[in-house]
Amino acid sequence: MEKRFAGKGAIVTGGGSGIGKAVALRLAREGASVLVADIQDDKASETADEIRKAGGKAESIKVDLADVSQIEAMTASAVKLWGRLDIQVNSDYDRVVDVNMKGTAFCLQKTCAQMLAQIPAEKRDLEVADRCNGKIVNLSSISGRHGRAYQLQYAASKAAIISLTQSAALAFARYGINVNAICPSVVKTPMWAQNIADKAKSFGVDAAKESTEFIARIPMKRAGTEEEMAAAICFLCSSDADYITGQTLNVDGGIEMN
Ligand SMILES: NC(=O)c1ccc[n+]([C@@H]2O[C@H](COP(=O)([O-])OP(=O)(O)OC[C@H]3O[C@@H](n4cnc5c(N)ncnc54)[C@H](O)[C@@H]3O)[C@@H](O)[C@H]2O)c1
Repeated sequence: MEKRFAGKGAIVTGGGSGIGKAVALRLAREGASVLVADIQDDKASETADEIRKAGGKAESIKVDLADVSQIEAMTASAVKLWGRLDIQVNSDYDRVVDVNMKGTAFCLQKTCAQMLAQIPAEKRDLEVADRCNGKIVNLSSISGRHGRAYQLQYAASKAAIISLTQSAALAFARYGINVNAICPSVVKTPMWAQNIADKAKSFGVDAAKESTEFIARIPMKRAGTEEEMAAAICFLCSSDADYITGQTLNVDGGIEMN
């Protein structure tokens, strides 16, 4: 496999499970040194072990992204381990507003500050950056594209991630730091199972039927895979996407087309 990320230092939050785990494995397979960050430290450490066993470079850290001091410590730890920070993928999900909205905002703040500090002083004030100085990808959702009658907070927090992505992209474009997001529809991770189970409990419907009916509404008639999300995210982290910023890409089998 091509080593698009050789020499790059990366953080993947939520890297202990689902999409984050697939991203961590793929970035490492393509040469990045990855700090796997997750509130479930055993899961984060399993991902890091898997990467090392496959010959890649990884460490893990326990972090609760609802706590800004832990975000600060996570960034510092990546810089200490890898000497620099070039890529951040934010793929965590839990206490909706604290983690999705505030957690993503603070991660952006700390990561961009580090990426700016890595630019040589004589190049920091160039009107046009002469190289790409960092890539950040946030996980939004198709639920962030419009209202959701039964997922008010989740939909609002995912819409906020689209807005944060655009604002950060505008603020850091002249420094060559690209900020993008993706919107998955359905990926059969623990989060999806929980989501469907919660809905089934609240409305007394059958969880399996609910999941099947949702997937039937996707034009491609199937759920996406973690690896398909990782492929799109790694494209946005690669030099093929140097001229793409502020964008939110639907990776969703065609259910959203805006
Ligand atoms: N799975 C889907 O169908 C789907 C659809 C749309 C969007 N998404 C988004 O993709 C992202 C990843 O979801 P997934 O399906 O891979 O979920 P997942 O449950 O498989 O993984 C989420 C990971 O985040 C970690 N995490 C949760 N709260 C945390 C916190 N406070 N601090 C640090 N880590 C924390 C969890 O421990 C877990 O390992 C989420 O942002 C989710 O909203 C998923």
